[in-house]
Amino acid sequence: MSTIAPDANLPAVYKKKTIQNFRQKKERGEPIAMLTGYDYPTALALDRVGIDAILVGDSLGMVVLGYENTVPVTMEEMLHHCRAVARGARSPLLIGDMPFMSYQVSVEMAVSNAGRFLQEGGMHAVKLEGGRERLDTIRAIISGGIPVMGHLGLTPQSIHALGGYHPQGRTTAAARRILEDALFLEEAGCFSLVLESVPARLAEFISKRISIPTIGIGAGSGCDGQVLVVHDMLGFFDRFTPKFVKKYADLHGEMQRAFGEYISDVVARRYPSREHTVEIPEKEWQLFLGEIAVDKHK
Ligand code: KIV
Repeated sequence: MSTIAPDANLPAVYKKKTIQNFRQKKERGEPIAMLTGYDYPTALALDRVGIDAILVGDSLGMVVLGYENTVPVTMEEMLHHCRAVARGARSPLLIGDMPFMSYQVSVEMAVSNAGRFLQEGGMHAVKLEGGRERLDTIRAIISGGIPVMGHLGLTPQSIHALGGYHPQGRTTAAARRILEDALFLEEAGCFSLVLESVPARLAEFISKRISIPTIGIGAGSGCDGQVLVVHDMLGFFDRFTPKFVKKYADLHGEMQRAFGEYISDVVARRYPSREHTVEIPEKEWQLFLGEIAVDKHK
């Protein structure tokens, strides 16, 4: 198995990406490309194509662990996957998603859990859901030296309060509240914020109104960057795919094809064939048989 050696003269895609690069990209009008990632091989692949950031999202609860929603995801589960991603990715900005109840109980607990993402998970920043109600928490985490990404619009950890995965901000009052929250998060010091499942015109308006980059998911093309759940865009997860997802591959179909072919090969004894088989030299084999025969007669 190969490992990537550290190299000072790396090509541009391998230069370490930072929250400052996020800001610079917005200033230059260059879109930011972010994807979720939950494991080592995916992190390696994302690193090698020069992704700006990997979000170890709590969506892993649904697409990797098979939970109904993101509510059951624990800190330990998040950290386990963060470490795997950090081992595979050296260039992208790595953002750990704070799971449900890891930052809502108290500010102290939130700061301590955010710190674990950096100390134990190898992340560079954390993301958490919510607006005005989270400002004290966000300020405390940032004052601990931990960059925070906000998350507004459809906030999946509030699935039971929201009554389902519905688009948000579709009334005057709701749109105004999201805009106000975006301004609050900017003022509190978030380096960026995710806008999930909000009308494209609202997302574009907010993106122009605030100085920090917005990362959209189901929020149209007017955001400063985009993020998708990697299992959705790879067609790896066949339970449900939101309307806003563009499928770039059908890995679930490809997995089923490969598994089916393997089963047929095993049943028909086509696998393993000679090329997949280890041989013992004929001379050694005959000696072995001779020794066994002698042992039998002892
Ligand atoms: O958990 C996640 O993957 C997310 C993205 C959808 C932004 O929060």
